[in-house]
Amino acid sequence: MRKVIIAGNWKMYKTQGEATEFLMDFVSRIDDAPENREVVLCVPFTDLTIVNKSLHGNRIRLGAQNVHWEDCGAYTGEISASMLTEMGVRYVIVGHSERRQYFGETDETVNLRLKAAQTHGLIPILCVGETKQQRDADETEQIIINQLERDLVGIDQERLVIAYEPIWAIGTGENCEVSEADRVIGLIRSRLSNPNVTIQYGGSVKPNNIDEIMAQPQIDGVLVGGASLAAADFAGIVNYK
Ligand code: PGA
Repeated sequence: MRKVIIAGNWKMYKTQGEATEFLMDFVSRIDDAPENREVVLCVPFTDLTIVNKSLHGNRIRLGAQNVHWEDCGAYTGEISASMLTEMGVRYVIVGHSERRQYFGETDETVNLRLKAAQTHGLIPILCVGETKQQRDADETEQIIINQLERDLVGIDQERLVIAYEPIWAIGTGENCEVSEADRVIGLIRSRLSNPNVTIQYGGSVKPNNIDEIMAQPQIDGVLVGGASLAAADFAGIVNYK
């Protein structure tokens, strides 16, 4: 059975005070959402403690946005899997296009991070996707296939989530046609050994397009940036029809 996972990616937004304010508003808004929808908040490291405390006893799962491959060491600015699990973290985003673009993340380091996450019991959310230039050059399929081949070497597909995020649709308000997102996600699924991997779509997901996105047969959930920052918007997404 493929699990429905609705995940928010707060990126580098929200102080602890703002995170607390969000939760006070958000939690009651998702009371009536069907139980089989997993709701995940991937928050900045500094918000993990406060969000974990406020989640106690409710259905939201805690997520982080990066993890290093070593257990400890001289890696200034990085964080290890055991540091995250100690804070109650269950999910971690790996290979987001912003990390690939601005912080030198490669398929090799993505693969190392995925392995470390799984070794410590975290469920990685692996992000793949093409740039506008690659799409215009008709390279989308090859780019996605290459990323999957390199990123997933030695990875356990029983404990994995994949997010297809066309880079040109992230934070731009520019939507990937839902049928096209569904097609690429079908392609991703055809390359996996486990047909039950949850595959999300990400890129300008909003309350007003979520119903259409979740109605697609291949799409099992969403990874939401901008619209996960406002309680009403993210609740509107979690409560899709
Ligand atoms: P967006 O971001 O929803 O703001 O487009 C998605 C993401 O980066 O995961």
